[in-house]
Amino acid sequence: MKKAIALVSLTAAIAASSQAGAVQITLACGTVGQELQLCKDGAARWAKKTGNTVKVFESPNLTNDRLGLYQQQLAAKSDAIDVYQLDIIWPGLLSQHFVDLKGKIPAAEVNEHFKGIIAADTVDGKLVAMPWFTDAGLLYYRTDLMKKYGYNAAPKTWAELATMAKKIQDGEKKTSSTFTGFVFQGKNYEGLTCDALEWLVSFGGGTIVDDSGKITVNNANAAKAMDTAASWVKTISPAGVTTYGEEEARGIFQSGNAAFMRNWPYAWALGQSADSKVKGKIGVAPLPSGGNGAAATLGGWNLGVSMYSKNQAAAIDLVRYLTGADEQKLRAIEGAYNPTRPALYKDQAILKANPFFGSLLDVFTSAVARPSGPTKLKYNQVSQAFAGAVSDVMAGKTKGAAAVKKLETDLARIKGRGW
Ligand code: GLC
Repeated sequence: MKKAIALVSLTAAIAASSQAGAVQITLACGTVGQELQLCKDGAARWAKKTGNTVKVFESPNLTNDRLGLYQQQLAAKSDAIDVYQLDIIWPGLLSQHFVDLKGKIPAAEVNEHFKGIIAADTVDGKLVAMPWFTDAGLLYYRTDLMKKYGYNAAPKTWAELATMAKKIQDGEKKTSSTFTGFVFQGKNYEGLTCDALEWLVSFGGGTIVDDSGKITVNNANAAKAMDTAASWVKTISPAGVTTYGEEEARGIFQSGNAAFMRNWPYAWALGQSADSKVKGKIGVAPLPSGGNGAAATLGGWNLGVSMYSKNQAAAIDLVRYLTGADEQKLRAIEGAYNPTRPALYKDQAILKANPFFGSLLDVFTSAVARPSGPTKLKYNQVSQAFAGAVSDVMAGKTKGAAAVKKLETDLARIKGRGW
């Protein structure tokens, strides 16, 4: 009996000693789709492994709102959040507030991620964040309805999409009055910048600002792309599309009320979940072309450690854990979050859960970056001006040609003497 008691207290002592240096890390997680749950699960696994605790901070749903809130925290040098989830367009904007992970994370480990994403996370030689998951715009479609209306392949051009969406919509509306052809991110925010960049590039209209920093948006193809998108509103897309973010679009598609949807990969896992009305009826394809080939905007999220964190070593350890291969694999299988590690695109379990990760690999590897690199600290202003211009065209306030002309002037003012 005595021996047993001694053993119990020894175990307790060991447990206590391994907790001796235990700290609490606050991790800011996104909340789109399954983001929050999967973030909490990963954090809990790390906490269990290390004896530390993690407090999860729930960030707002829209990336613009997250940025505003994070900028407030960082400007105040607050230590309230140790690890931030950073959008791929933010390293340039926020680099001065983050710990340089170069040297703190072995180079071999950093090199396991896609080079392009590491490059986007590196500002003036400083590794601001580690890649967690990557994103690219995709076209989702209803395989059952394609068949019903006599189509055997996803639309290759925007014109084809419009024709197919109209036909399916007209047919389905007879029995379902709210059915619509095409949903996407039409609200005036960063998501619209992503969708509209895809339209522009696919029409040969460029990337707003080119890699050298030149403003290129005032061209006929960009104008045409905007006018084309405007023509969808109230024809193949509901009037309300100009208020939709990712989740509104997904809600409509997943409840069986749309033929086509533009969204990120996360929508796949939820669309295939048990309570989805379209489970087993979803196809995924590259977005259509406007004559210049299909284009997908590069998105994605990264984890960075705040300079104001009081527990930087533990915070870095959490970042390494969450961006590691095991976590990325779990997240890919459970949530269709695209790994940032090329090796995982050969993983059979991941490919089984997300067949398009393999068949559309080039969509992910050739996704088009928003001009956050060349426009540096001014990217957010550039994006807001662009989304605002597109929004005006979609609302019928102006036409593409006038909008891109005015946008060029506005961007030149934002640029001033340089980005
Ligand atoms: C997704 C992308 C992100 C983008 C955002 C726009 O979260 O990963 O890069 O900025 O959508 O809504």
